Amino acid sequence: MSEISNADGPVAVTGASGYIGSWIVKDLVEQGFQVNACVRDQSRADKVDHLLAMNGSDSGGSVSLFNADLFEPGSYNAAFSQCSAVIHAGAAVGYNKETPQQVYDGCFTEVSHVVESAKLAGSVRRFVFTSSFAAVGHPRPPGYVFTEADWCGDNVEAYKGAWSDDNIAKNRDIAYAKAKANSEKMIYAQAEGGGFEAVAILPLHVVGPLMCANHDQGWSWQNCIRFMLMGKPYRISRDGRMLWNMVDVRDVGQAHRLAMVSGNAGNGSRYILSATDPSGELFTWQLQARLAALFPEIEQIGGEEMAVSGPAQPTYDSPRAYCELARSELGLVTHSIDDTLLATGRSYQELSLL
Ligand SMILES: NC(=O)c1ccc[n+]([C@@H]2O[C@H](COP(=O)([O-])OP(=O)(O)OC[C@H]3O[C@@H](n4cnc5c(N)ncnc54)[C@H](OP(=O)(O)O)[C@@H]3O)[C@@H](O)[C@H]2O)c1
Repeated sequence: MSEISNADGPVAVTGASGYIGSWIVKDLVEQGFQVNACVRDQSRADKVDHLLAMNGSDSGGSVSLFNADLFEPGSYNAAFSQCSAVIHAGAAVGYNKETPQQVYDGCFTEVSHVVESAKLAGSVRRFVFTSSFAAVGHPRPPGYVFTEADWCGDNVEAYKGAWSDDNIAKNRDIAYAKAKANSEKMIYAQAEGGGFEAVAILPLHVVGPLMCANHDQGWSWQNCIRFMLMGKPYRISRDGRMLWNMVDVRDVGQAHRLAMVSGNAGNGSRYILSATDPSGELFTWQLQARLAALFPEIEQIGGEEMAVSGPAQPTYDSPRAYCELARSELGLVTHSIDDTLLATGRSYQELSLL
């Protein structure tokens, strides 16, 4: 098992400007790592200023920017040179009118380019891939608790075979989930003969503080919380009803570093990042109530439709999962759900986005 420390040379992070990528970089810098932060365009102050502001830390850690694009072969060669580890958090996540097939194919193209550059560097010992809980979830009865042993594609006979590979081209969610699961399997296989170990991080609903206005992407969970804090109905799921299973973006950042340095992780290790316990699993109406308690100055919190006695309709009880393995094997220390929700709202207030 290869353990990596900040004495082993730089480490690279793809998607460093993004919501999750930025918290990965911050955590690494605070732990004294030299970070080669890969962004598409260094001249975009709105996307990189918060990264450059991390330089000068007492920890001795630092950030250097590198331009790279996931769709260009060899684009990451310079950034990965002499790196002991690569954390691959960048992704074109498919919210720009791509077809499901393009989402699926794009994920493979992107990931294989990054893996090729990592292999070429010759120095990379650990490759941490930001997969998704989507690579775990699949049809199960309400209340089922998913673990890292679950894979998207299990139990394919349920729901008339909807989650089979045949349906990748027909449905964006299936395409995204299968792309993440099959990318994981491809990376573990590449790592076997490639002289490095690959580990995957599987986040569920990521919320928590934003570092810049660009982290407020229109399709994101944090953006849904912003809308709820603005008194608007929650927009993504049917009638606003869903089970939020939340993990703090700061914990997601920390978990990527722990997966990179830990001797307990090895090739093929995967870690769900979700609620620590049921306090972080809230139906939309429960989330509304928590937000109302935490932000008493806000007159109306949006969410799902309510009747006098409670929610107007029941919500399907899924997905349930806990980040137990990340805590026990990697030593992840998590924030409480109230701390996470408070920090999310406060960051929106500080960015004047409410
Ligand atoms: N947020 C969640 O709840 C969640 C849950 C599960 C998994 N994930 C996974 O976590 C990862 C990061 O997501 P996020 O929430 O942090 O999203 P995000 O804020 O949109 O970050 C995506 C990053 O990818 C970069 N990127 C996009 N297209 C690129 C390209 N063609 N070449 C190079 N870089 C490109 C973006 O760079 P630019 O700044 O240049 O656009 C950005 O830094 C993704 O793999 C996502 O699937 C997220």
